Amino acid sequence: MTTTELENPLVEGLERLPVHPTTLVIFGATGDLSRRKLLPAIYNLAHEGALPERFNLVGSSRSRMSDDEFRDQARESITRFSRRQPDPTVLDALLERMRYVPGSFDDAEAYKTLDATLAGFEEEAGQPLNRCFYLSTAPEFFPVIVERLGAQRLQHHDDAEVRIVIEKPFGTTLAEAEELNHRVLRVFREQQVFRIDHYLGKETVQNLMAFRFANGLFEPVWNRNYIDNIQITAAEDIGIGTRAGYYDHAGALRDLVQNHMLQLLCHVAMEPPVHFTADEIRDEKVKVLRSIPAPAEDELERIAMRAQYAPGRVGGEDVPGYLQEEGVPPDSNTETYAALRLHIDNWRWAGVPFYLRTGKRLARKVTEIAITLKPVPHLAFQQDGSVGVRPNQLILTLQPNEGVSLSLGAKIPGSRMRIRPVNMEFLYGTTFMSQSPEAYERLILDAMRGDATLFTRNDEVEAQWRIIDPIVTRWEATPGPLPQYESGTQGPAEADALLDDGQRWRAV
Ligand code: BG6
Repeated sequence: MTTTELENPLVEGLERLPVHPTTLVIFGATGDLSRRKLLPAIYNLAHEGALPERFNLVGSSRSRMSDDEFRDQARESITRFSRRQPDPTVLDALLERMRYVPGSFDDAEAYKTLDATLAGFEEEAGQPLNRCFYLSTAPEFFPVIVERLGAQRLQHHDDAEVRIVIEKPFGTTLAEAEELNHRVLRVFREQQVFRIDHYLGKETVQNLMAFRFANGLFEPVWNRNYIDNIQITAAEDIGIGTRAGYYDHAGALRDLVQNHMLQLLCHVAMEPPVHFTADEIRDEKVKVLRSIPAPAEDELERIAMRAQYAPGRVGGEDVPGYLQEEGVPPDSNTETYAALRLHIDNWRWAGVPFYLRTGKRLARKVTEIAITLKPVPHLAFQQDGSVGVRPNQLILTLQPNEGVSLSLGAKIPGSRMRIRPVNMEFLYGTTFMSQSPEAYERLILDAMRGDATLFTRNDEVEAQWRIIDPIVTRWEATPGPLPQYESGTQGPAEADALLDDGQRWRAV
């Protein structure tokens, strides 16, 4: 620790909560997610001393390779993608605890080898070890892996806990999500299942609950009487990169709105839970989702819009349009931008529009929630030329520049009573001097500890799909071409049509 860290009471790292000795099995261990996110996150947990004292990792995927080849690949991924420079001693010790089991995901023999490997670790430890299976494969393999684990009787251990972590996407329609839940829950109990939405692992998303429920200031205005509208934005400057194969079947609505953005909406809109336990929090979120009516056929035009990025300039470089990206069919109908107008039909929120928008290749990366209050009922300063009075806005910035800012009207110094908006800011980076852990660090640790608070429950994921499904169906049935927006800009002008008179999208 540096002197500043020792002196500053606001510097805190990831707490070291006890974790039972565990073997983590990653299916799809040589894939992109594992290499970019999971292995580096596990390294950072090791670095912080947050992993269980006895920890083993088994990588599994179709590529044939030895334990040592897998370790070399893991070393390379960690060195390249870890948020901190790896310490060679910590990294070597971690790699030593890694094994590799090759095999196709439906190959019964591979599960026998896995079983024997897990048993070998227990023998060596002289004690039962918890097991955590992480499915980081393409989604079509989720059911078969679950069923093979069941067939090998790996879903249960007499003397230890067994858990399964399932990556997104959890289905691509409501029917698929229901079917997947059904197949998973035939083998595992719901308490063993951890469905990932990595936004829930972000510190700033968790801070939304602290902000709302640890402060008395906001609750009295947090309702339809004071709030005019809420805008949730997840803008990205990147394009689809090399992910055409996945993205062209998904689109912005499935990729970000169905999961991450609806989760953000739940955090803003939910009632305070009685206790901060996994099920009480998830009960409250499900109540919010159930209060959002699934869009009716005849209102879809007015509440949902989509578009695609056209060529343009981002970060000083010329970039291609979506239809020119490698692997994208030239007549693709897939949206890279989606905007919705939703309503929550309950006592707190009736009549308040919730605007959601997300897009690739916009002007910059920013994820924020903007809460706009109603204007003051009477403005006494008009005669003095108060041109700058605006309704108060509370902006929760989730990334980058994480923080909270409140816009207030203030008097401009001088002899006249002129008003302009000023900002009151809290910035994470300057208040808490530690670097926030990556979402996956928190989530992997929580799954190993058996804390499901930051994971999506079966009824929650289905409630999310119930809202999105009618839009997906309509869009798939409606031929293009889609409206285009120039890359590197604010997005399509057509999105303005969703807003009420006098409202504007915030600048990205
Ligand atoms: C993923 C999406 O879930 O979230 C990606 O599949 C997207 O398309 C990413 O880029 C955004 O996550 P973050 O943490 O960078 O905001």
